[in-house]
Amino acid sequence: MSEDKLVIGVIGSGTMGAGIVQVAATSGHRVLLHDNNKEALSFAMDGIEKILNRLVEKERMQESEAKDAFARIHPIEEITDFHECGLIIEAIVENLEVKQNLFSNLEDIVEDDCIMATNTSSLSITSIAASCQLSERVVGIHFFNPAPLMPLVEIIPAIQTSPEVLGNSKNLIDSWGKTTVVAKDTPGFIVNRVARPFYGEALRIYDEGMADIPTIDWAMKELGGFRMGPFTLMDYIGNDINYAVTETVFKEFFYDPRYKPSFTQKRMVEAQRLGKKSGKGYYDYNDDAEQPEAIKDETLGKQILNRVVSMLINEAVDALFLKIATKEDLDLAMTKGVNYPKGLLKWADEIGLDNVLSRLEALYEEYGEDRYRPSPLLKKMVANNQTFY
Ligand SMILES: NC(=O)c1ccc[n+]([C@@H]2O[C@H](COP(=O)([O-])OP(=O)(O)OC[C@H]3O[C@@H](n4cnc5c(N)ncnc54)[C@H](O)[C@@H]3O)[C@@H](O)[C@H]2O)c1
Repeated sequence: MSEDKLVIGVIGSGTMGAGIVQVAATSGHRVLLHDNNKEALSFAMDGIEKILNRLVEKERMQESEAKDAFARIHPIEEITDFHECGLIIEAIVENLEVKQNLFSNLEDIVEDDCIMATNTSSLSITSIAASCQLSERVVGIHFFNPAPLMPLVEIIPAIQTSPEVLGNSKNLIDSWGKTTVVAKDTPGFIVNRVARPFYGEALRIYDEGMADIPTIDWAMKELGGFRMGPFTLMDYIGNDINYAVTETVFKEFFYDPRYKPSFTQKRMVEAQRLGKKSGKGYYDYNDDAEQPEAIKDETLGKQILNRVVSMLINEAVDALFLKIATKEDLDLAMTKGVNYPKGLLKWADEIGLDNVLSRLEALYEEYGEDRYRPSPLLKKMVANNQTFY
């Protein structure tokens, strides 16, 4: 590996930090890893070594490659050792004040041209950048879990970020074999914003008794081509985690009713029915549990699918309308970040924008709720007979 590769610093050696370290080290970088909890740091080092060894066993990596990658990773006890880093990615606890303190302390240690990135899922990049003197060097680099396996990385410039820092960050992460998309610094960035109706509308359909849980999952998976139905996916993510993201997005959007959380999901969290990890969620994961059957009624299934997909498309169109990302990046984010069967804007073209609009207008008319308001861009494009591609 070339000697001129940037030294990468990663702070926080939990789920995300450990994954990011693995990606950077296998891409040939020397990586310094710090955590303020020594046990977490040694746990992460052991974990990374095990994963690399498993990749060798599965013949996905040569033994020498794995050994070299592991040898490039250095656990570091003091952040003062980060002075040689060209890029630092922070993946510590999701707390604004703690992150701001870290960034402000780091700035006294690193060179002026060091890029300082945060992996935050829900905080504003701009607010983190504001803790730095040279705030133009701060950027969001948002990996998905598990970082070594998920191809998508969202790059989020703060208001202060320089175009050079944005471009260099994007090029570097691209060189690690990732698919990068650029997102505006708004709640949920692309994926965690646009995906909300996949859960929210499915919950709403269930809440109002249009269909039961296995039937909604069956419709989305078998008729829609999604890899998992929404309830199976929520159980997999963890209902506590999914609820927390939903609540944060709702609050951050100044309580826009479109993102309103569901009482059903809240109650699941209160009952500790967190999903797979707790043995019970929308489904029962105990070995002897009987699994409920879907009612495989195609007419009902298509109604469910059309309603959820129309809501997803509306969210993607509105994100384009508000310049959260380009149409290409919006579609890439959903196919690479959450494995949707198609980009939502491409899907809208296939269904016909007029069909999507009339479904949304029917929902809006029926419920009189703002969550179903069609995006102004969708209306304009239908009026002008336009398509996205
Ligand atoms: N878990 C996910 O699915 C996911 C996905 C994308 C982004 N994120 C974001 O990544 C960040 C980390 O999430 P995670 O799930 O890896 O968390 P985690 O709890 O698994 O790990 C966080 C680590 O940071 C350490 N830490 C806390 N404060 C620190 C400090 N001041 N200095 C040094 N180390 C400190 C902790 O000891 C812990 O080991 C968060 O900002 C989160 O929003 C998480």
